[in-house]
Amino acid sequence: RHFLKLASTLAMGLVLAACSKQEPAAPVEAASAPASEPAPVKVYTVGTDAAYAPFEYQNEKGEIVGFSVDLLTAVAEKGGFQVKFINTPWEGIFNALTQGDRDLLISSITITDERKQTMDFSDPYFDAIQLIAVKADSKVAKFEDLKKLKVGVQTGTTGDEVVTKLQGKTSTLIKRFESTPLALKELEAGGVDAVVADNGVVIHYVANNPDAKFKTVADTKSFAPEQYGIAVKKGNAELMAMINKGLAAVKADGSYAAIYKKTFGTEPPAAAAPA
Ligand code: ARG
Repeated sequence: RHFLKLASTLAMGLVLAACSKQEPAAPVEAASAPASEPAPVKVYTVGTDAAYAPFEYQNEKGEIVGFSVDLLTAVAEKGGFQVKFINTPWEGIFNALTQGDRDLLISSITITDERKQTMDFSDPYFDAIQLIAVKADSKVAKFEDLKKLKVGVQTGTTGDEVVTKLQGKTSTLIKRFESTPLALKELEAGGVDAVVADNGVVIHYVANNPDAKFKTVADTKSFAPEQYGIAVKKGNAELMAMINKGLAAVKADGSYAAIYKKTFGTEPPAAAAPA
């Protein structure tokens, strides 16, 4: 910041010096921004809560990677725009969008009617549903069984919403965590009896942490199907059009399927990427 300020002060000085000597302004301008070069391309900032493998997470080098990153990178290329990913905690992610700190969000965000009031969503790009994680020896067989148990969720997620609905707003048995991995760690430690979160993340965690001795309990009758969307600030139709154009292109040309397969090892279900 200081450097920028200094640089602009210097540039200003140059311009003033040029003017006072009554030299033509053209050479000065040419030195800093030749008219022949195209105007710098706008890079859109992307908020993502990178603690959500395999969708968005940080690798050993600290780079933000995962399905969402690969997908949005491909979408941006096809949609004709540039993106820069910024790790943004879930807790403040929607605010960052409304405040204008981020131009768009891709963070396995379920499209809900409530969220649609405050932001605009792209066409859906992924099907999800809530899934229950418990210790392998747990007797939990369905969602209803969690009514009187301690349940871990990530604050403000759809998992939080369904458990809050099951147990009631005043329940003291819901333990809310900053991230989904933290909730799962607490399950491992025995601090909660179950965790309810998006299926993709739970399956990935259980598969990669065999020592935790978890199992998953699916209850498709109790959970509504969810779809992930890319969010932009309400009314940002220009960016939304580019996103949806790119999304349609990657679904049509097979790159969606390739990214899906790279991440999950299987072909996408037909409904996930309609041609
Ligand atoms: N799909 C859920 C929701 O929208 C959870 C998403 C959490 N994403 C994340 N990167 N932590 O509420």
